[in-house]
Amino acid sequence: MVKIAVLGYGTVGSGVVEVIERNKEEINKRATEEIEVKYILDLRDFPGDPYEDRVVHDFNLIVNDPEIKIICETMGGVNPAYEFTRTALRKGISVCTSNKELVAAHGPELIRIAKENICNYLFEASVGGGIPIIRPLNYSLTAEKIDNIMGILNGTTNYILTKMERENASFDDVLKEAQAKGYAERNPEADIEGYDACRKIAILSSLMAEKTMKYENVYTEGISKISNIDFKYAAKMGRTIKLLGISREEDGKYFAMVAPFLIPKTHPMAIVNGVFNAIFVHGNMLDDSMYYGRGAGKLPTASAVVSDVIDCARHIGKLIKCFWDEEEVAMKDVNKAEFVYFVRCDSSLHEEALGIFEQVSVVDAGVEGEIGFTTGPMSEEEFNRKAEKLGIISRIRLMD
Ligand code: HSE
Repeated sequence: MVKIAVLGYGTVGSGVVEVIERNKEEINKRATEEIEVKYILDLRDFPGDPYEDRVVHDFNLIVNDPEIKIICETMGGVNPAYEFTRTALRKGISVCTSNKELVAAHGPELIRIAKENICNYLFEASVGGGIPIIRPLNYSLTAEKIDNIMGILNGTTNYILTKMERENASFDDVLKEAQAKGYAERNPEADIEGYDACRKIAILSSLMAEKTMKYENVYTEGISKISNIDFKYAAKMGRTIKLLGISREEDGKYFAMVAPFLIPKTHPMAIVNGVFNAIFVHGNMLDDSMYYGRGAGKLPTASAVVSDVIDCARHIGKLIKCFWDEEEVAMKDVNKAEFVYFVRCDSSLHEEALGIFEQVSVVDAGVEGEIGFTTGPMSEEEFNRKAEKLGIISRIRLMD
């Protein structure tokens, strides 16, 4: 029997307990030992809950119990999860987490501490919710040189963009509805400003590079400036708008960005709608592969955490290899990256726009008082200089 503890009995933590209960036969067989939830740590009590007798409020009780071999950290946020995780790993207790903030901020250090103490720090659920992506990168694509990862990494923003497009609805209205339905947080900043996707692409990039890409170094834009008028132009161009995390290796340096992109309707990412996520991985032998599924939600995310619990149970006293060093990757300058841009500006600036941007292609979506056009390919710095000279309403990058 392997005894485990769950830190945080919220959406994901209660999902972990539910998955272990509902799939116990399969899970115990695959773990090769029976998994038992001995403790649930939370500030609250849960009277009437079938697991109320396992709820404790003192982390020390868990970490000082020699029977505990695995901890599921489903608290979210950096503190106190960081301290709890370090303490557990130093005692040789493996930790499985869904906490992308913590993995992005301290992943390589926690992996090192786990290694030093012959236990494991696993984080399948930190990116893509229930979609297997960390394990494929660590175990399955090990014969590849991976040079490009791109993904729809945030379900909330994908849900909002999908609704805006389908219902010609405004960003504010869809956000309010998403909050009312519990799809978006009451404080939605981390999702809509792209910070959540930024942490996820930083984690994936670090696994691609086997070094650390600091999330603070990933240029990030969210979707709060996208309007339903942008979708009118997108439709005219045969495109849709998706918030993408992109990352690629070029000559030993890494370029990463989170931003909304106009992508062709024929692009595989264009059919990823609602709360679904998808991750594209390019390897030099395999070529393209794509991983698709529910990027959030109680049971899908919990299923990924429990898959890590099973892996840890099979490897008690043994290390599961994870190639992610603390050394930082060299980053490419975002200002030098080239894109084609879709631009909106006041219709009175039509002639000036043609003069400044030269190779423009006008997109007529019948929007009064303004014009929309795409530019030729140019660097971010060149675009920013020209856009400032012209005075634009907005711009979105194109991706083919
Ligand atoms: N807020 C995140 C999302 C949850 O919307 O994708 C999963 O990380």
